[in-house]
Amino acid sequence: HWTAEEKQLITSIWSKVNVAECGAEALSRLLIVYPWTQRFFSSFGNLSNPTAINGNPLVRAHGKKVLTSFGDAVKNLDNIKKCFAQLSKLHCEKLHVDPENFRLLGDILIIVLASHFGKDFTPACQSAWEKMVHVVAHALAHEYH
Ligand code: HEM
Repeated sequence: HWTAEEKQLITSIWSKVNVAECGAEALSRLLIVYPWTQRFFSSFGNLSNPTAINGNPLVRAHGKKVLTSFGDAVKNLDNIKKCFAQLSKLHCEKLHVDPENFRLLGDILIIVLASHFGKDFTPACQSAWEKMVHVVAHALAHEYH
């Protein structure tokens, strides 16, 4: 369900993404902008204010882990559902993360990419990435029942 142009736009941006930086920034922004998401990360220590969140090494490491996993989806564009079946089970059955939060993180990732890539993040590029984060959120929600 991808056009050749969409695939190209997704993989070309991805090849230039700094996964550690963008992952840390996206998760930090999620925790700051939507503070109720903090309750899933009580083991990460002090998340009481934006400065504490930005500087928290556990937040940074986990953000990197999440965005690295996002990269698996980029490498398996035609197979994202299967690729995330286990992760979907984990987030549903064990972590009990409301799938609405996948959509929120996807929206934030778009903002982070736009701010990092500036005018290279063209409207066509944004459109392909909107589809990408939607497909990922859908795949992660797939095992919920
Ligand atoms: C753990 C990916 C969104 C909460 C994980 C892990 C990965 C991952 C790869 C580690 C799994 C393991 O250790 O085997 C993703 C991806 C997401 C996403 C690709 C969306 C693009 C979210 C959201 C939340 C969340 C939105 C909550 C608001 C958690 C929690 C853990 C976890 C609480 C366990 C953390 C720990 O204590 O180590 N996720 N995740 N995830 N995720 Fe997600």
